[in-house]
Amino acid sequence: MDIDISSVLAPAAALIVGYIGIEVTRRLSLSPLRTVPGPFLAKLTSAHESYYLITGRSGLYLHELHKKHGSPNSVSIIDPDSLKKVYSEPGYRKSTLFRMFDNPVPSVFSTCDPDVHRRKRRTMAPSLNTASILRSEDLIWNSGPSALVSKLGQLAKEGSPVNICKLFHCMTLDVIFDLAFNRQMKLIEKDDHEIFWRIKRGHLYRVFKVCFPIFYRWEPRWLTSWGSDSAKYVDDLCTKAVQDARKRTPEQQRNDLIGSLIHAVDPDTGVGMGDEELVSETFTVLIGGSDTVSASMTWVVELVESHPLVKQRLLAEIDAVYPDPTTRPRIADKSRLPYLEAVVLEMWRIMSIVPSGMYRVVPEGGRTLCGHFLPAGTMINPCVYGSHRSAQFWPRAEEFVPERWLEPGAEANKQKLMQFGLGPRTCFGRSLAQSEIFLTIAAVYRNFEFTLVDGRPQAYHELFLAPKNSILRARVYRRQDNGTVDAQTCVTAK
Ligand code: HEM
Repeated sequence: MDIDISSVLAPAAALIVGYIGIEVTRRLSLSPLRTVPGPFLAKLTSAHESYYLITGRSGLYLHELHKKHGSPNSVSIIDPDSLKKVYSEPGYRKSTLFRMFDNPVPSVFSTCDPDVHRRKRRTMAPSLNTASILRSEDLIWNSGPSALVSKLGQLAKEGSPVNICKLFHCMTLDVIFDLAFNRQMKLIEKDDHEIFWRIKRGHLYRVFKVCFPIFYRWEPRWLTSWGSDSAKYVDDLCTKAVQDARKRTPEQQRNDLIGSLIHAVDPDTGVGMGDEELVSETFTVLIGGSDTVSASMTWVVELVESHPLVKQRLLAEIDAVYPDPTTRPRIADKSRLPYLEAVVLEMWRIMSIVPSGMYRVVPEGGRTLCGHFLPAGTMINPCVYGSHRSAQFWPRAEEFVPERWLEPGAEANKQKLMQFGLGPRTCFGRSLAQSEIFLTIAAVYRNFEFTLVDGRPQAYHELFLAPKNSILRARVYRRQDNGTVDAQTCVTAK
């Protein structure tokens, strides 16, 4: 039978055009989100969100939109009180987008099920709480800041510019491998940056597939060769960490994260974690516990070196507390260095490491936020970067002013900082992150200072907010005991 193609195509085209017409009308005139301010295109499609996610500009783009206006299924908010509600009210679940972090099964970070989350969190959190970090202080010091100070000493003698970002990546990976998996990688000593790149590429590969789900069914060869090797490399590292921990003899047992996870049981069911679950949790800790901390320290150096008065005050405080540069900083010294704490808080305010993307879904019945009714199922993308930089909530919002954290009222302002999230899903690595950053910045600035080689870098939001291509080049100078820069190092370095 002969079929006249045009007789089929014409009704099909009419159907498609009709469907698009109805959908556009619905979104523009009937959707409850039509009154939420934003670009016209965002009322029709979320394609632009995927574009900014892939190109590493998501959080920064939302900040610009909030400056201008204040997507069909997606809404971004910056108001601290509304953000608190979204993060803290149990009804707002994490979006299924977090499945990109299921590796291979949901982890404490990626699960959208509040009951599963509660069980996992109860099991894992004690290994990284403040008491446990204090017990591990020597380990953190030896594998992290102490090794970094030795490396910087060598680099200061050599005099060539170094990538500060890379040094911090190596350091934080060394700490997390040692602390969580009992593996001494010595990446700083070896100057080995490969794991960092594999983690990053493997993650981008997953993001790409989430944005274009068709690649789950059919993956082009270029995508496989670009990303899947890296994803597999990181998976193998985590699998090996679990296998090694399972094989430990009683004498080799250590109170590290993986050791406690293997022995942890659910208090309600008495059941422990299976291997797949353990691999997924080790993967989460590796990703969440390394680049976040290294990006924070990189921004501290970048901001301090770009603000001479801040630098002067910071060095003076550190020198006063540690007159002898070889003194090892201790976590307990934190309260004696309030300006250092102010610098770190201000860095987190202005360069929120997780600027956006912690998606939540509006619960049954819908909710009213910022004066707009949002129906159940609406996706909310909290824009922490925009909230931290909004002139509505902060004076001199776009400037780096650590002094604000030493003024009266600073305690109340800390409630508006959301760099670790809030509520039941708040970061449980925060104690480790704060201690690691404190020990490192105190030790590094007591002994060294830097000059940025290429000026100030552009910020990119790939996995976390970091300088473009993870590069911050600087020259390193050893400071003398009296706080001045070592003239000899300076001469060779320049
Ligand atoms: C400066 C460093 C860090 C920053 C800025 C940071 C940021 C965050 C944020 C914003 C969340 C909340 C995500 C959400 O609400 O959806 C989070 C959760 C989490 N972080 Fe961190 N993090 C840091 C360091 C760490 C470290 C060192 C570890 C582990 C060793 C870690 C492990 C986790 C885990 C497991 C979760 C999931 C918690 C849950 O859902 O119960 N993070 N982090």
